[in-house]
Amino acid sequence: MGDESVWGVETAARYDSPGTGMFAAQVLGPTVDRLSALAGDAPALEFAIGTGRVAVPLAERGVRVAGVELSRPMIDQLRTKVGHDTIPVVEGDMTTAIAPGAGDFGLVYLVYNAISCLLTQAEQVECFRNAARHLRPGGRFVIELWVPELRKLPPGRQATVGRVEPGYILLDTYDVLNQHVVSHHFRFGDGKRAELFRSPHRYIWPAELDLMAQCAGFELETRHADWHEAPFTAESTSHVSVYQLA
Ligand SMILES: C[S@@+](CC[C@H](N)C(=O)[O-])C[C@H]1O[C@@H](n2cnc3c(N)ncnc32)[C@H](O)[C@@H]1O
Repeated sequence: MGDESVWGVETAARYDSPGTGMFAAQVLGPTVDRLSALAGDAPALEFAIGTGRVAVPLAERGVRVAGVELSRPMIDQLRTKVGHDTIPVVEGDMTTAIAPGAGDFGLVYLVYNAISCLLTQAEQVECFRNAARHLRPGGRFVIELWVPELRKLPPGRQATVGRVEPGYILLDTYDVLNQHVVSHHFRFGDGKRAELFRSPHRYIWPAELDLMAQCAGFELETRHADWHEAPFTAESTSHVSVYQLA
């Protein structure tokens, strides 16, 4: 998933949408509020930091933020905004890469469904273990992840429509045997041509995520439906889960 074909130069160049979508103030404001409250005075580490969508405003709040990121083009985009002195980033895999200061972070966070970029259960468990390696005792690992939408998938069907907006359709195709989903993002105008961005994921049920956390020495502290801390219910489509290192 972290390979050049998905998170390459082209994706990195068009990833940011300042002020809209995932970069809208209504999305980033509550995300940064919650993460900065969880970090307190301790340094924070973002796994799969990308172009710094969250890390840059979090650093502007005064939190010391570092990152791990597999894609060089995504890091290059981040570097157009801030230098290494402000947000140091280790280029590497979040299952294995070690950031300077490991063992002293108070918060590790992994948002926008990025744990699902790891395509096997073993890698996802390793990601938890790597978060634990970076945290001080009592430190927290925060995960933002969507809830698999299998209830929308009638027997015999392989795809769900995730989102429909003017000029945009998201189709998710499922391989339920292997717990894989491929998101197909179609962008189009009035003409006949559409642009397609495809990303493969391994979906995870909340209970499975909690078990992965336990394997790495964490306990679930809180789970909410969003960054505003709305209650997580059977109808929630996403969650923000906070794990604490025992
Ligand atoms: C959906 S983007 C999220 C970026 C950023 N966290 C955000 O919220 O905008 C997923 C990111 O995960 C990165 N990624 C995928 N697999 C990775 C891995 N194994 N280790 C580190 N980063 C990875 C990709 O390169 C990409 O930057």
